[in-house]
Amino acid sequence: MSFTLPELPYDKTALEPYISAKTLDFHYDKHHKGYLNKLNELVENTHYQHMEIEEIITKVHGNSDKVPIFNNAAQVWNHTFYWNSMKKNGGGKPKDDGFLAKKIQDDIGGFDKFYEEFSSHGVSQFGSGWVWLVFEKGRLGKLKITKTPNADLLNNLWPSATTHYGCVGARLLFRLSKP
Ligand SMILES: [Fe+2]
Repeated sequence: MSFTLPELPYDKTALEPYISAKTLDFHYDKHHKGYLNKLNELVENTHYQHMEIEEIITKVHGNSDKVPIFNNAAQVWNHTFYWNSMKKNGGGKPKDDGFLAKKIQDDIGGFDKFYEEFSSHGVSQFGSGWVWLVFEKGRLGKLKITKTPNADLLNNLWPSATTHYGCVGARLLFRLSKP
């Protein structure tokens, strides 16, 4: 079995003007596909090729002999999560009476504070990485904003949304997925 590139859940112009088709060409067709092809190459004829990607990531994490497998598998997962955190005409401030708006108010101090913190985590990330809106301690835990460099793991945090800072410079877009 080999891993296959999941279809983008929208067409490449769907996220404009925030994310251009050209940026999607880069991060989907080059990055995501590149990590996937490399992962398939690395796991071919090993027991990893029969595992789910999450299992591979957790099994090889911290194993110095398996860093390339970890990096490629985790970046495949991160990109897949990222694409599915966004949709055409999605995003913006969550509805005031919604679960997410209440959590952001209670745990982060309101949408403006969230916006500011989420942005500053992104622009202060050196090189490539990810900014996450996560739940601490399980799906109904406290919301917090954190960041990870390159392919690093979130470690016991549940991702709710992410934005990606990569080689093309700092871009900020948050499209919140439902928790
Ligand atoms: Fe990327």
